[in-house]
Amino acid sequence: MVDSIKKHLILLGAPGSGKGTQSAILCDKNGYGHISTGNLLRSEIAKGSELGLKVKSVMDSGNLVSDDLVVELLKANLDLATSSYIFDGYPRNLEQAKTLDGILSGTDSVALYFELDTELLVDRLTKRRVTKDGKYIYNLDTNPPKVDGVCDVTGQELIHRDDDKEEVIRSRMEVFESTISPVLDFYRSAGKLVAVNASAALDDVYKEIIEKINL
Ligand code: AP5
Repeated sequence: MVDSIKKHLILLGAPGSGKGTQSAILCDKNGYGHISTGNLLRSEIAKGSELGLKVKSVMDSGNLVSDDLVVELLKANLDLATSSYIFDGYPRNLEQAKTLDGILSGTDSVALYFELDTELLVDRLTKRRVTKDGKYIYNLDTNPPKVDGVCDVTGQELIHRDDDKEEVIRSRMEVFESTISPVLDFYRSAGKLVAVNASAALDDVYKEIIEKINL
């Protein structure tokens, strides 16, 4: 088997399935670079950039931002000559999967599919609290901060994301369910798809990932 640290990891899964949480652990323990298209887009909104102004209402409604805008942001933040990456939240549809395949051609990658029951997702997201940059992720039930509303690591205020309201969560789920099947088929037929039981406890999900991809 090829040295796994060289493999890029492509995380697929519904909103709230734990992609960001596992990305943080995988980066911390295994030295990956983290590309979260959601975090990159939210950072553009926070900066008040032209792109941020264009995408805010789309994200607040739970729909997908256009492929062209997202891929520009993605490419601008990649340095494939020096790093292996975790792709968190990209690709979201077949077009994006094909685009990423082109970007990563000549390198090795594996797609991890986080499987989880929909009702658990709503519960997880309504109770999620994050730092403004999305880097540190908490849950009021399963992973609470030591001090209410404050990040344990940075001391920053924790926020409830604008798109973590129940009605927007439901619409994000619908978007996910209507776009994910061809993406899964794409990676399955390339022999790159690995399913993960994302309803397990945090540490167990991490263990399953490293066992299944020999990290
Ligand atoms: P994005 O930011 O990518 O959001 P998402 O895919 O909806 O995923 P989330 O960040 O909501 O969930 P997650 O899977 O990372 O879960 P987490 O680890 O936080 O996208 C947001 C928007 O940006 C999109 O709607 C779209 O508009 C736009 N966008 C982004 N990428 C795009 C693209 N490629 N193309 C077009 N548009 C794009 O965990 C959730 C909660 O559960 C936390 O509270 C956590 O503590 C808890 N938790 C995690 N794991 C466990 C566990 N094992 N047990 C118990 N609790 C757990």
